[in-house]
Amino acid sequence: MTLQLVVHGGAGLMATRNHEAVMARCREAVAAGLARLREGDSALNAVELATRVLEDDPLFNAGYGSTLNRDGQVQMDALIMDGNFRIGAVAAVSRVKNPISLARRVMEATPHHLLVAEGAERFAAEQGIPLVPPETLIAPPGAESADGDTVGAVALDALGNVAVAVSTGGVRGKLAGRVGDSPLPGAGGWADNALGAACATGLGEGIIRALLTFRAVTLLEERAPQAAAQAALAILEQKFKGEGGLILLDRRGAVGVAHNTPFMPVAWLQGDQIVAQVRQS
Ligand code: GLY
Repeated sequence: MTLQLVVHGGAGLMATRNHEAVMARCREAVAAGLARLREGDSALNAVELATRVLEDDPLFNAGYGSTLNRDGQVQMDALIMDGNFRIGAVAAVSRVKNPISLARRVMEATPHHLLVAEGAERFAAEQGIPLVPPETLIAPPGAESADGDTVGAVALDALGNVAVAVSTGGVRGKLAGRVGDSPLPGAGGWADNALGAACATGLGEGIIRALLTFRAVTLLEERAPQAAAQAALAILEQKFKGEGGLILLDRRGAVGVAHNTPFMPVAWLQGDQIVAQVRQS
């Protein structure tokens, strides 16, 4: 059975970023998740773990080091979904170190799909997830992430299940309470065991209108992943005037990547090697 894990470090401008460090961390995220897949663990566990690796690094706009809203606060969104349409998501949380793991708890321990703000944080505390002072999620000056560096992962496990995880601090200077594409199924991420899984990054408003990841996964009915990713991105750009990118995985482990931003870091398994690149357009 083919295994696959793909991560991205956000479609963005990133002209001033340390591309070597970004690629190294993306590679590390794939290695962590892949080790689990090779032990027979689920795609769901692999994408959660890979996303946590990126959330913990202030180079990326997710978890610690998230960009700040107009009030100077961190407000984060995250989604996790498996190929059987199980979904958990959180939005506008400010006191949780790893929002992706809180999203996982929403999926597994509630009848709901999306919890927001204070209610999501109260649920975290009830689940034993520690609440941290919001200021501890703000990276020191010079170490913070660049614009657009949402993170995410898609995976295929040995049982043929796919999953997606996505986590973000949203867009710099956003209004308090603004929620982007990332925690919205079909926009920030979508997974369907019959077809594959996709994870989006970029300016959320356009991605929401395009339903980018649902569209990309649906296009797998008729196209290979690279062609499907490009076709979905073309619709985002031409019909919805959107900016961003996506990673797309089919149920055989083939990968597609497309973006219309200047840079997009990605890493995945090619043969038995982990390949990491900052793709440029
Ligand atoms: N794609 C992240 C956001 O717009 O919030």
